[in-house]
Amino acid sequence: MTLIQLNQVSKIYPNGLEAVKPTTITIAAGTFTVILGSSGAGKSTLLRLINGLETTTSGEVIVLGEKLTSQNVRRLRAQTAMVFQQFNLVGRLNVITNVAIARLYYSPWWMSMLYLFRQQDINIARRALARVNLTSKAWQRADTLSGGQQQRIGIARVIAQQPKIILADEPVASLDPVTSEEILTLLQEICREDGITVVASLHQVELAMQFADRIIGINSGTVVFDGSPRQLGRDNLREIYRRQDGSIDESINLAFSD
Ligand SMILES: Nc1ncnc2c1ncn2[C@@H]1O[C@H](COP(=O)(O)OP(=O)(O)O)[C@@H](O)[C@H]1O
Ligand SMILES: [Mg+2]
Repeated sequence: MTLIQLNQVSKIYPNGLEAVKPTTITIAAGTFTVILGSSGAGKSTLLRLINGLETTTSGEVIVLGEKLTSQNVRRLRAQTAMVFQQFNLVGRLNVITNVAIARLYYSPWWMSMLYLFRQQDINIARRALARVNLTSKAWQRADTLSGGQQQRIGIARVIAQQPKIILADEPVASLDPVTSEEILTLLQEICREDGITVVASLHQVELAMQFADRIIGINSGTVVFDGSPRQLGRDNLREIYRRQDGSIDESINLAFSD
């Protein structure tokens, strides 16, 4: 079943920059897809088009069978939870509240205005926190935790949102290698065990190879590779990491370099 469909979607920012060139992508339910590309390739823009944080310049985005419009964007966004590079927690609030915030999507407006939570929502938040092994930190201020722990809160928050889709925009770019693997392992578990479709952007080839079912390589807003990790070869990597001037982005650890 198709959960996400982009039909000839493009994005030109007001300054004239074409961050995503007309692109058609279909993403099946239950898969773990990695959008792989260098800084500036258009990964964040692509993900933000899927949940309507950016509007398309042309083409259409279909999520859960519905064409995304200004009318249904809020409802569909509840089903399309996002994990951010910088975690996007409220640092002064405690951990459990940061997780429970996800439930405000489903609360009456007056409750969300007052940050009031129903007991059932607190219970969902507690279970999500247990899932990422942070029960012991529930009452601690979020900004007292390490980066890896903060991202686990970010993941507990998307679990508590009970979405169909998780979009993770460079979820490990601010973390060390060991913690990065832990976080991606958690996302992979959620994908496999709960059947939630995950689309994550990464700039590291090794991590994409390790965790993705499917890798979509982009360069300057164009898809230059689309296949399984096993199909990704040296030439594909060169295309993904080629700069405008023809040189290769050396910041990648070319696992395939000769
Ligand atoms: N709000 C914006 N206005 C203008 N240009 C933008 C904006 N956001 C991103 N860009 C540009 O669009 C291109 C793609 O950016 P982005 O999607 O953030 O790439 P990535 O996430 O792969 O680093 C870059 O050249 C970036 O500078
Ligand atoms: Mg980005």
